[in-house]
Amino acid sequence: MTDFKTGILISFEGIEGCGKSTQIVLLAERLRDAGKEVVVSREPGATPLGAKLRKLLLDPAYSPDALTELLLYLADRREHRRLVITPALQRGALVLVDRYVDSTWVYQGFARDEVESSLIEKLNRLVAGDNWPELTFVLDCPAQVGLARALERNRETGAEGVADRFEQRHLDFHEQVRQGFLVLAKAARERFRVIDAGQEIEMIHDQIWREFSLKYAIS
Ligand code: TMP
Repeated sequence: MTDFKTGILISFEGIEGCGKSTQIVLLAERLRDAGKEVVVSREPGATPLGAKLRKLLLDPAYSPDALTELLLYLADRREHRRLVITPALQRGALVLVDRYVDSTWVYQGFARDEVESSLIEKLNRLVAGDNWPELTFVLDCPAQVGLARALERNRETGAEGVADRFEQRHLDFHEQVRQGFLVLAKAARERFRVIDAGQEIEMIHDQIWREFSLKYAIS
């Protein structure tokens, strides 16, 4: 396998229930088996401050306006970058992150349609700086399929009937989120890979591995 001299940041994006977390675990296992240092992280909530912000952000008791919501996600990101992402990349690790800059552009921008996309882009660049993802997998599936999976997951984890503030949103919102990721992917084909998340887990993993191997010239 290629010997990575510098770290690599890879993000996974998609609607709720699209299977990002499962795929991150599978890719991380495969890379670790190949002897790489892999850091798995997520947004929001990867740091002590972030965990508190996550609780607030997902609590159905609050309905912040789009700008407040945006600023809270960016605060979480800044802390995540400082404490987790930058140090890991500097060590030469592969960082796999479950949601990152594109979720903000899509959820707070494209889907809510209340804050200018250009402002989100500017703030995202300010907060993430040169810790920008090199490769982004969008796990794509219809909103109905993703939400059904997310609710099933809540049942399995004992959170039956407890949808978070985002899961409670209308199906149209989630379909809009899905479209937002596809718009981004179309605009930056060199960074994005759209994967059909309706396939079997192993097939999705194989496709992700193929794309990863192609990009980093791994045989
Ligand atoms: P999760 O369910 O994938 O852990 O994500 C938590 C929620 O946060 C999810 O509904 C998407 C939302 N989110 C945003 O709205 N903007 C962001 O920038 C991020 C990172 C997540």
